[in-house]
Amino acid sequence: MPVDLMRAKAAAQRAAAEWGLELGRPFPLARYSYVASAGDDAVLKVAWEDDDESLHEPEALALWAGDGAVRLLRSDPATRALLEERALPGDDIASLPEEESLAIAVQIATRLWRPAGAPFRWIGDHVPRWLDGDESELTELARDLYASFEPGRAWLVHGDFHHHNILRHGDRHVAIDPKPYLGDREYDVPSFLWNPIAYEMTDRAQTERRIAAFVDAGLDEHRIRAWTAIRGAYLGATAEEAALIRSWF
Ligand SMILES: Nc1ncnc2c1ncn2[C@@H]1O[C@H](COP(=O)(O)OP(=O)(O)O)[C@@H](O)[C@H]1O
Ligand SMILES: [Mg+2]
Repeated sequence: MPVDLMRAKAAAQRAAAEWGLELGRPFPLARYSYVASAGDDAVLKVAWEDDDESLHEPEALALWAGDGAVRLLRSDPATRALLEERALPGDDIASLPEEESLAIAVQIATRLWRPAGAPFRWIGDHVPRWLDGDESELTELARDLYASFEPGRAWLVHGDFHHHNILRHGDRHVAIDPKPYLGDREYDVPSFLWNPIAYEMTDRAQTERRIAAFVDAGLDEHRIRAWTAIRGAYLGATAEEAALIRSWF
């Protein structure tokens, strides 16, 4: 078990003891955090120590207050433990038909995007550093595009918006797992375009349908494509995905 995961697990066990909760089995999809059920109705999550992107996860859940996302029940900034409402049955939208998952995603995203300010951080203070990491086939294009506009500061974005972070909760769906920043709403679309996990973004027609659905919801088409190139440059677009993205410009 990686040392970060061991530390997060230990912190989760301490928080559970302090809050009088019984921890269940950890959820398998957790990648940079320890996540386990805590009783029937709650989930306890502790981010890995160096996971900076999810720093303001509790504040975002608190701001959404159950509208479009799971509710925050309790949090401890010192240990990064957070207790949140458990989505039940909690299956994600990855296995739904394309049209259905797309409609749900657009509907959830438009609830999550809200005008916000502090403590959330502006993406413009972070993206240049991310773009300065390892070069990829998209890096040069991404740097040019990033230099061509000023990222917005007005909207709270989810930051890790995709099929596996949208769960069924009773007769509705809710988002989990935000990496919240202030930015353009269009910043949230790329991660949806190249998910679910088993899918590679090589189907041009399907990608266009997805983009069109977000444009219909009021987003700017060029900015969706620009953010897809920018985020694709540092989030590891495959060679085929990079080729599709490059063909847009
Ligand atoms: N509130 C919740 N209700 C139900 N299941 C959850 C909840 N939060 C997390 N999970 C489950 O745990 C998994 C990992 O949690 P997530 O917050 O996405 O962690 P990570 O940041 O590591 O991706 C999710 O994919 C989901 O299956
Ligand atoms: Mg997740």
